[in-house]
Amino acid sequence: MNDGYAVRAEALEKRYGEKRALDGFDLAVREGTVHGLLGPNGAGKTTAVRILSTLVRLDGGRATVAGLDVARQAREVRARIGLTGQYAAVDEVLTGRQNLEMFGRLFHLGGRRARARATELLERFDLTDAADKGVGGYSGGMRRRLDLAASMILAPAVLFLDEPTTGLDPRSRGEVWEAVRALVADGTTVLLTTQYLEEADKLASRITVIDQGRAIADDTPDGLKNLVGGDRIEVVVAERSDVPRAVKVVARVADGEPESDDTELRVHAPVSDRVAALTEVARTLQDEGVRVEDIGLRRPSLDDVFLRLTGHRTDVARTKEAAA
Ligand SMILES: Nc1ncnc2c1ncn2[C@@H]1O[C@H](COP(=O)(O)OP(=O)(O)OP(=O)(O)O)[C@@H](O)[C@H]1O
Ligand SMILES: [Mg+2]
Repeated sequence: MNDGYAVRAEALEKRYGEKRALDGFDLAVREGTVHGLLGPNGAGKTTAVRILSTLVRLDGGRATVAGLDVARQAREVRARIGLTGQYAAVDEVLTGRQNLEMFGRLFHLGGRRARARATELLERFDLTDAADKGVGGYSGGMRRRLDLAASMILAPAVLFLDEPTTGLDPRSRGEVWEAVRALVADGTTVLLTTQYLEEADKLASRITVIDQGRAIADDTPDGLKNLVGGDRIEVVVAERSDVPRAVKVVARVADGEPESDDTELRVHAPVSDRVAALTEVARTLQDEGVRVEDIGLRRPSLDDVFLRLTGHRTDVARTKEAAA
């Protein structure tokens, strides 16, 4: 009985000494979707994933995965899930193929099926060319893809991905995103933790924002972006007397009222067609002889979402600011 939900968690509690890593955490993940769990360092993302994948015991509340109770039916849950941890689990010395075959045997597939499954997964994750090279020589993106492949050995119903792209360059991130999309097209449900709003936006159909062990929002990516006003264009002019003119120019392409800051000589506003807005504003300001110090587009970040939801920045951003 799972009512179309692959994961349901209600009022989860997890304490480590005095620390409440989860403090009444709720979550509902629809079958066949990617669900983003978005939160800053220490919010409780990994703890939630560990509980749902039966690696740690919960102190309170209840959760089901694939309709099975994580506390009472841990073994059955484990047979239906895959998990890719925050840190890669593959062996550096072995080749990609050997790694996958080893995982297959670990799951009692038997030599022949393990080999066949490895070949299939190498193909699926675009690793065939590198299959017989040592993993030590893989790029970060290739390694994460191999990690994903390893967690797919048993074609799990639900896959937990804990920050699968943290620390990757943009190209490798794109490759991992492609791999995740392919999995979901095959019917796997994915719960993906991330600190990047952009990543959750690209992949997830729904996002839960977690802060201090609690869900503080649960919405579609568009809903969250609307909350923070979407993409913004920002212009910094050289002369204070040019601020009103810049406001007028920006207003023509903006989706809402431009805001201006007279001390920083900065004008900014939400836009929907990012590139058209940027081109138009740059050209018009130049035509009107307005000297521009800086112009650019800014995508909303996790920190913008936080500011709107909680009234404060993420601790990470506050720490960075204090250090600056
Ligand atoms: N084994 C543990 N022992 C003690 N405290 C822990 C343990 N695991 C997590 N915590 C604490 O619980 C809180 C939540 O940690 P968790 O690892 O779930 O956060 P996270 O959202 O995954 O963060 P990150 O983005 O840094 O991975 C943190 O304050 C962390 O220090
Ligand atoms: Mg974590």
